[in-house]
Amino acid sequence: MTAPSSAPVSIVLVGIGGYGNTAVTTLLRNPLRQDWQLVGVVDPVAEKAAAYDELKSLGLPFYATLDDFYKTNKADLAFISSPIQFHAPQTCTALANGTNVLCEKPACATIQEARQMAAARDAAGRFAAIGYQWSYTQAILDLKADIQAGRLGQPRRMKTMALWPRTDAYYGRNNWAGARQSPQGDWILDSPAHNACAHYLHNMLFLLGRQGQASAAQPRSVQAELYRANPITNFDTTAMRIMTDDGVEVLFYTTHALSKFYGPEIICEFDEATVTFYTGKRLVAHYKNGDTKDYGTPDGYTHLKYWDSIAAVRGEKAMACTIDAATPQIVCINAAEDSVNNDIAEFPAGLVYKMGVPGKQIRVMTGLAECFIKAFQANALPAELGGYSWLRPGKVVDTTHYNVFRG
Ligand SMILES: NC(=O)c1ccc[n+]([C@@H]2O[C@H](COP(=O)([O-])OP(=O)(O)OC[C@H]3O[C@@H](n4cnc5c(N)ncnc54)[C@H](O)[C@@H]3O)[C@@H](O)[C@H]2O)c1
Repeated sequence: MTAPSSAPVSIVLVGIGGYGNTAVTTLLRNPLRQDWQLVGVVDPVAEKAAAYDELKSLGLPFYATLDDFYKTNKADLAFISSPIQFHAPQTCTALANGTNVLCEKPACATIQEARQMAAARDAAGRFAAIGYQWSYTQAILDLKADIQAGRLGQPRRMKTMALWPRTDAYYGRNNWAGARQSPQGDWILDSPAHNACAHYLHNMLFLLGRQGQASAAQPRSVQAELYRANPITNFDTTAMRIMTDDGVEVLFYTTHALSKFYGPEIICEFDEATVTFYTGKRLVAHYKNGDTKDYGTPDGYTHLKYWDSIAAVRGEKAMACTIDAATPQIVCINAAEDSVNNDIAEFPAGLVYKMGVPGKQIRVMTGLAECFIKAFQANALPAELGGYSWLRPGKVVDTTHYNVFRG
């Protein structure tokens, strides 16, 4: 878009520790590609990052803020992998300086921030894409094209369960994991639904997008249950039901408070077929007439989002996951908090036990995995099934005109 097609795309890296290292290694392990060039690094504590020495040895300038970078530099493209509360301001700053953006998921914390990012994108005439890596894969895009073409019949229900244990080290790796807000009052809303497993909530809405590759279904209502076992301010466990604006039921179950990994398990029901996926396996459509269609796996293609964004700057392709496509997930996250009036239920202390040694310790909620698996199988929210004293239902939130998260 901004660079002449023969020139390398100039890239600024924003956040290089943690997941930002994926962008670094994708680029630096492909030195023979001639289509990119690093022009700077923005990270206030860059020296703690695994790639610090290697990036320093390249002679790159380092900055604590993006504003500092733009005082003397410019870039065609920014890879933003900073904490959630910086996504919106950094995306807007980059766009205002004429830089295209690939920002890590989730897009941001609140719906009002997502709208600001889209407006900044429109004003700049650059792209603002979000790094949900599955959305860039052939498996997901082929399935989405078949859904849009009506080849599986009318979609009726999509559900995903991703039960992923996380340790005390995960929650202790920074000052924002599991946090609702930063000390400065910025919204973060970090949770499994908004971080580690956000992919799978987004994926269902993305697959149900009706207009072309970069669309997503809009939630008409959201009902959620939010719980926590860990000493955090937001939640580590949720089940939610989203009704889309064309009446498809989307169910999502995720937690970090259990002992064993399970999922993601995905089941998508259509009038003519059911599409299934389980960790490490393939997305397969099973038609009612006995036919099957194997879409392959969306796992293992994280690099595509980086190469696609370089190609998009050069005008060679469009980004599959735009800020607009990633915004319905934000509506769900915001409305889920509204659904429980921002009051997260603590699991009873007597039912939560610690497993493992400090540093690798998981807080496990007794009976939670069984409860969620039963609810998943019954297409129900856990509190609808009952059977556990700690269950607490949320209210249905109308999201038809959802424009502000108030908290
Ligand atoms: N796509 C994926 O599969 C995937 C996986 C993990 C994390 N993520 C996303 O990556 C983002 C970062 O998560 P993380 O777990 O790496 O976090 P982290 O806290 O472990 O690391 C964040 C990095 O950003 C830096 N940073 C902090 N403040 C900054 C600022 N103002 N400007 C620039 N850099 C800043 C930190 O120093 C650190 O290097 C989150 O949005 C997360 O959801 C995506």
